[in-house]
Amino acid sequence: MAGRPDSPASHVRSLIVIAVVAAALVAAFAYTAGWLSPGRLTPAKIVDSLAPPGGPALGFRRNHAKGICFTGEFESNGAAAQLSKARMFAAGTYPVTGRFNLATPDAKASDAMARVRGLSLRIVMPDGSEWRSAMIDAPVFPVATPQAFFELQRALAHKDDPNAMKTFAAAHPEIGAFGKWAGSAPWTASYAEERYNSLNSFVFTNADGKDETVRWSFVPAATPENVSADDLKKRGADFLGADITQRVGSAPQRWSMVVTIANPGDPTADPSKAWGDDRRSVEAGMLVVKAIEAEPDGPCRDLNFDPTILPPGMRVSDDPFPAARSAAYSVSFNRRTAEDKDYPRTAAQGAK
Ligand code: HEM
Repeated sequence: MAGRPDSPASHVRSLIVIAVVAAALVAAFAYTAGWLSPGRLTPAKIVDSLAPPGGPALGFRRNHAKGICFTGEFESNGAAAQLSKARMFAAGTYPVTGRFNLATPDAKASDAMARVRGLSLRIVMPDGSEWRSAMIDAPVFPVATPQAFFELQRALAHKDDPNAMKTFAAAHPEIGAFGKWAGSAPWTASYAEERYNSLNSFVFTNADGKDETVRWSFVPAATPENVSADDLKKRGADFLGADITQRVGSAPQRWSMVVTIANPGDPTADPSKAWGDDRRSVEAGMLVVKAIEAEPDGPCRDLNFDPTILPPGMRVSDDPFPAARSAAYSVSFNRRTAEDKDYPRTAAQGAK
């Protein structure tokens, strides 16, 4: 039988209920922060693992820290509407903000030292939806899972221990395909001559509700010219930025967006595995880069190219990377925006 609402027993019961709710809240916070499972990989730990020995470049992205911002358009030809009802695939022209970048946490890296180059895009559609993507020029990712990406950073951090990478590679043989590309693919002297690949897979849904799992690439209109790695080292630290500024200054630069559709049984959850070259593909339209924008204090500065920001008609697949990337990019974004006072206001300050 329940006691009277103002009886001592009822007060004790209320206090117990409050204590239980408070304890549950503390436990939930502790779980989210990883305090209950110190071995669990958290977004903060994965971002910490990217920092170079001297600590991160304050105010900068925690990876792909060096880059150059641009604006332009996506000219959709309408062909990919058969795959996705996303507004950007209806024939038309949509504004783009993007960024060419290098896969390094070092904001002052010499361009010739970064093997992997990236392209980040944000397309805003008239219905208010938007698409963000961050791609790289490697044909495969070095590792199969976010956990392995973390372990790779830890192995790379042990530069003085030749066994660290050997042990890692023995446990993660999938890194062989990336290693082969990194060691043998020709270098170019221009962001404009690179093909950029999503590597992660996503699900497209068309107006009839039909799903397809896809990856996409941006294929350059410019013909790649091979330049030796030694020649690139002689070109100064910032030749990529100078080259793309000069090219875009003389003519818009173009890439064709190619959407590749998985065959049944393709490894959709593993970006370290390529799909065969014979997969069906659809050319969706052209990225046209029209103007180079200031990197310090320009329109990319406060943009997080989170690969899970997708319009209706696209969604994440069984690939675990986009969710892990989203969480890590958010930590990086929060850290770098909190360090605003350390971020350069001008290109000259950025070069110091
Ligand atoms: C678990 C795996 C990964 C982690 C932890 C990671 C981490 C990061 C972080 C922390 C940033 C900086 C974000 C910001 O401050 O805005 C970044 C940027 C970037 N990442 Fe990743 N990344 C991962 C996988 C990938 C993959 C698979 C690709 C491409 C296929 C990729 C391409 C890029 C690019 C192009 C940027 C530059 C984005 C920009 O211009 O803001 N990353 N990454």
